[in-house]
Amino acid sequence: MKFSVAVIPGDGIGPEVIAPSLEVLDAVGDKYGHIFNYVELEAGGLAIDHSGEPLPQETLEAAKQCDALLLGAVGGPKWDSLPGHMRPERALLGLRAGLGVFANLRPAALLPQLKSACPIKDEVLTASNSEGKAAFDLLIVRELTGGLYFGKRGRLDESSNGHSPGAAFDTETYSWMEIERVLRAGYEAAAVRRKKLCVVDKANVLESSRLWREVAAEVSKDYPNIETSYLYVDNAAMQLIRAPGQFDVIVTSNLFGDILSDEASVLTGSIGMLASASLGEKVQTGNRPGMYEPIHGSAPDIAGKDIANPLATILSAAMMLRYSFVLEKEAVAIETAVNNVLDQGLRTGDIASRSGAASDGAASSGAVSNGEKIVGTRAMADAVLKALEKL
Ligand code: IPM
Ligand code: MG
Repeated sequence: MKFSVAVIPGDGIGPEVIAPSLEVLDAVGDKYGHIFNYVELEAGGLAIDHSGEPLPQETLEAAKQCDALLLGAVGGPKWDSLPGHMRPERALLGLRAGLGVFANLRPAALLPQLKSACPIKDEVLTASNSEGKAAFDLLIVRELTGGLYFGKRGRLDESSNGHSPGAAFDTETYSWMEIERVLRAGYEAAAVRRKKLCVVDKANVLESSRLWREVAAEVSKDYPNIETSYLYVDNAAMQLIRAPGQFDVIVTSNLFGDILSDEASVLTGSIGMLASASLGEKVQTGNRPGMYEPIHGSAPDIAGKDIANPLATILSAAMMLRYSFVLEKEAVAIETAVNNVLDQGLRTGDIASRSGAASDGAASSGAVSNGEKIVGTRAMADAVLKALEKL
């Protein structure tokens, strides 16, 4: 099959992690008989430098024409002093809204190979794991095109302490439809996992959260095999650390999902491993428009040094195959290759053992400890390509 993939390498380490991911996609294409045509586009800081705006209209239009979008990362100190609507991050919001990708899937699982990078004690992990293992495997489904990120906002002309405008506001609005469609995305995900879904909100205070619960009460009736539970977000933030094994799928609003997914990423040992998929409504063929990106940012401090972990982007490409192109075995091939490379002991600095040679994540390439070998971006990518070939 043939697919067109919009590619936005972006800023910082973006290009370094995107390049090997495209090589991995091509290798999968060769192996299973698919062709991926890449359409490289600009957004974020690079686009600001070249065309004066973070998300040029041509980029959005071209991305809409493609079957899916793979994005590295945007942003960096160079653009930090620009006003809000001109910052590189605006490109992300514009792409999310423009592509209509309302359901953001952020998996966070503790891989056995990376257990030593997890900051939570074994006995804490085992206590909440139904099989008594020191592990967890959860999926945050974050609403991505509504809520506080897209609500009415502004400055008020009143003066306060001698400043005018001396007040500002942002608002959280959710329609029934927006809540229902992201909940359904969560239930569909839970159906092929451990069949548990937790709605995270602040229904003890916020009216919009109370609507989330009403919608969930209705929608849950369509999924009788899935256990639905509710948590307030402050409690959920605590439970994630106290007992991460209790969670399967968490569905939550845009802002709460933003915060909780960063928290969950730390539990896995490194944000450098975490992929994400942002999905729109399914189209008739079963394919689905989607935007795929690693959760980590542009990490300007390590850009160009060949030390960034490419695995989150490679795993995002796997999610693209699964969700947008319905190529399950091809997605699994990438995931297996990544798993095999970790089994071989290869580690970028960010996922090396805390007790090992790479205690500060800045260990030099080639250092070996505990059977782990610290490698750079390129060597890690080459190892994945080799592992794919061997499958
Ligand atoms: C994320 C990021 C973005 C967000 C920023 C960069 C706008 O933190 O994808 O989680 O808040 O959504
Ligand atoms: Mg975030």
